[in-house]
Amino acid sequence: PAHPYFAQALLEWYPRHRRDLPWRHTRDPYFIWLSEVILQQTRVKQGLPYYLDFSTTYPTVHDLAAAPEDEVLRHWQGLGYYSRARNMHHTAQQVVREYAGVFPNTYNELLKLRGVGQYTAAAIASFAFGEKVAVLDGNVYRVLARVFGITSDIAAPATRKEFQALADTLIPAAAPDEFNQAIMEFGAIQCTPVKPDCLFCPLQSQCYAFQHGMVQELPVKSKA
Ligand code: ADE
Repeated sequence: PAHPYFAQALLEWYPRHRRDLPWRHTRDPYFIWLSEVILQQTRVKQGLPYYLDFSTTYPTVHDLAAAPEDEVLRHWQGLGYYSRARNMHHTAQQVVREYAGVFPNTYNELLKLRGVGQYTAAAIASFAFGEKVAVLDGNVYRVLARVFGITSDIAAPATRKEFQALADTLIPAAAPDEFNQAIMEFGAIQCTPVKPDCLFCPLQSQCYAFQHGMVQELPVKSKA
């Protein structure tokens, strides 16, 4: 890859700093999908009890598919964005009906499921199946914009391709799942939006934003 030390530094940082979260102990695409749907617009601290509730109330995709919608919505209460819960229920039924209860195992097939966009498809494909496809979320944009000094507006749709291309060159074939978890976790707890921990950052010496005093300016995100 173009920047061999980037992945190496992240993969060394990750096991020393990661939070112990239940969906990091499974390769079952159903549980990974469940966790990612819950975490889409929700912080880990808030989403965790919902994940534990859903994964025990509905231990398989068949259980979720067979549940009445109003019961699923009741379990979702407090999380907001109820369309997520309705999509989730629909997708469970889709997986049961169209895929015999077995989640598709590639990024491109996963994209066909309702409510599964590029981020969720990449997360499931890499975490469950080890596919080498980079996840992009707000955390990843921030880390890459700072380290590589990217000033493109992350709110502009065209910018996505630029970040995807970069991330795809950085992700190592030997550990795509670890890399994806690591870069998101790094953004969540080290390279934070406000007061990032640059003093104890393993990427400090290779970080464009740190070296140029631009940490607070990156990423660029238009308000509109
Ligand atoms: N937010 C979204 N996906 C996540 C994951 N897999 N781990 C921690 N936080 C997340």
